Amino acid sequence: MSDKTPNHRLSPMACPAQLADVDLFGPGAQEHWYEAYPILHKEAPVQVLSGAGPDGASDVFVLSRYEDIERVVKDPQRFTPVMSQLVEGLQATLDRGETPGQDASRFDLALDSVRTLRPTMELWRAHRQELTDPWVGPGAKRHTRMITEVADELIDRWIDRGRDGGDAIVEFIDEFARPLPQIVMARVLGFPIEDVPKLAQWGSAQVMQYVDGQGPLNQLSAEQSALQAQRLEGFAEYLADQVASKRSRPQDDMISALTQTHYQALDRKLTDEEVYGIVYFMVLGGLETTQYALEEEAQLLCEYPALFDTLKAAPEKIRAFTEEAMRLRAPTQGLSTRVTTREEAFQGVRVPAGSILHIRFGAGNVDPQQYASPYQLDLQRKSLGNHLTFSQGPRTCPGAGISRLEQTIAWERLCVRLDRLEYVPGNTFEHQPGVMLGTLALKLRFARAIKRRS
Ligand code: HEM
Repeated sequence: MSDKTPNHRLSPMACPAQLADVDLFGPGAQEHWYEAYPILHKEAPVQVLSGAGPDGASDVFVLSRYEDIERVVKDPQRFTPVMSQLVEGLQATLDRGETPGQDASRFDLALDSVRTLRPTMELWRAHRQELTDPWVGPGAKRHTRMITEVADELIDRWIDRGRDGGDAIVEFIDEFARPLPQIVMARVLGFPIEDVPKLAQWGSAQVMQYVDGQGPLNQLSAEQSALQAQRLEGFAEYLADQVASKRSRPQDDMISALTQTHYQALDRKLTDEEVYGIVYFMVLGGLETTQYALEEEAQLLCEYPALFDTLKAAPEKIRAFTEEAMRLRAPTQGLSTRVTTREEAFQGVRVPAGSILHIRFGAGNVDPQQYASPYQLDLQRKSLGNHLTFSQGPRTCPGAGISRLEQTIAWERLCVRLDRLEYVPGNTFEHQPGVMLGTLALKLRFARAIKRRS
């Protein structure tokens, strides 16, 4: 992977050579995550970040072993999701007749819907099964044709470049990986296509914590929080208008369905506020994540040049490829979203009750105790889908179905329409800050397929 060595020069942080150098959260850390993981696995599978907790005194514990992460995410009773704690806090505040404080108001739209719709594990399950699965989970198959059309329309915009002797170059992120999930999610939810640019802006304002937030808790400064609120201006009103219009004139889309459904689990219809909350989470989770997966998949194809031909010749292997790519380059590298409810021990390290765990999906996915040759892309690997990229257990990502479908269809169409994809000299492969694995720019040279499009 010599093409990627410029990262080491671009990053303000030196490439870690020993445990003392490993800082997953410092400026430029993204450029060295995959050099840090073998060090963590060997020397500190539970890395203690002293005083990094919310009170400035407690510690945060970074888990990088597959078995530890799996244990945590599969047991929400013992390792409470931070969101459940926020909801309990919000409920207690309301029970006292007080107005919610700053924590709740930051994403109050969403949090209040969690409070009323899924305060228990049973209701979490029902929420997924009845409300999201039919649209973005297993039921996402219904969008196959639409996603195929969106992928083809995006490819149409650049496929003829190079025909008159010019350079056949595509900015893969701007011209494919970013717009694809934006347009697909707008179509699924039922937002007008002309609104995609503003939805994209609101979407990136929602994820500011994961990009600009500092340290393992992704904390925004007061100025950044104010900027986030400013960038989200208009979103609540927009959602209210959309929901009202779909309640009175339902169409064939997810928001319309949510406004009309009789929610069996609670034996009632959803309120407008509950629909806003569900949609808020769809926009928050559904855009950048899939974009980053597509970006990394393109890079892997450039790094393993024979792979593109393999997938062209055997498109049934595309699903194995996207699973391996997501294992090797998890878009969501880690989240500090679980709290211990009692004293625990991981790999012999004592973790007090009430501690925040940073679950490092990206590292668990390349744990040598779980995977042989963990840094190799291997389409023959057993249990290809058992990576931690979407998390696991009852709180696993509800949008995994649609994301997998978008990725598979994207590469099916690209394999049909292109004969080659390779790096253009000059890419820096620099990543955005934060906890997501997001490459900032990616110029690729392509060769249009000679065979007729099918
Ligand atoms: C490659 C793409 C994606 C990745 C890597 C990803 C990853 C994740 C992860 C790691 C979690 C945390 C689960 C946990 O706490 O145990 C999560 C939660 C979530 N994801 Fe995804 N996701 C992706 C795509 C999507 C899409 C397309 C949607 C929406 C259509 C979505 C919606 C959500 C929501 C709503 C949650 C929060 C669930 C909750 O706690 O309420 N995600 N995702």
